[in-house]
Amino acid sequence: MFQPGKGRVQISEAQIAERIRALGAAIRQDYAGQEPHLVCVLNGAFIFMADLVRAIDLPLTLDFLAVSSYGNAEKSSGEVELIKDLRLPIAGRQVIIVEDIVDTGITLNYLLRLLEARQPASLRVAALLSKPSRRQVEVPIHYLGFEIEDAFVYGYGLDRAQRDRNLPFITSQ
Ligand code: XMP
Ligand code: MG
Repeated sequence: MFQPGKGRVQISEAQIAERIRALGAAIRQDYAGQEPHLVCVLNGAFIFMADLVRAIDLPLTLDFLAVSSYGNAEKSSGEVELIKDLRLPIAGRQVIIVEDIVDTGITLNYLLRLLEARQPASLRVAALLSKPSRRQVEVPIHYLGFEIEDAFVYGYGLDRAQRDRNLPFITSQ
């Protein structure tokens, strides 16, 4: 597992691309002969989703949902609200949730319960980033890009007060 140096998080465009190629290959292997259904958690995961699906050499379908975020604050309120639901049913599907970052785990825990209740054939998680030191709820991450220390990061889909989502790299300063 690639871990950026202490003190500051800086993950380059090339490092992200390399990890996503590996995640895509792993998903292709695990779902060979099947048709996974990828669920992007808006807004933060939109760029990761776009790159990840193109790295998976399999027939697949996809959909989007949105949950309440931190707004412009950097800390979770601990409450999650579904703002936009999926368009497609997931019963019987091989579902992979695509998240930008798992921090306390509260959002992902909420999503796992929500989607599990719809009886997918299987339910897994792909997350670009994880801050394990911040975890309050244990959640599974089957496909993880990078483990990072506890720093607020932005870029590559993640925002800093709604800005900087278009940076092609991830940074904490
Ligand atoms: P929890 O705590 O529920 O948080 O695991 C997950 C969501 O919180 C947001 N988040 C961040 N957003 N930089 C961001 O831009 C960060 O460092 C960060 N940490 C958490 C994010 O929306 C994630 O889905
Ligand atoms: Mg998010």
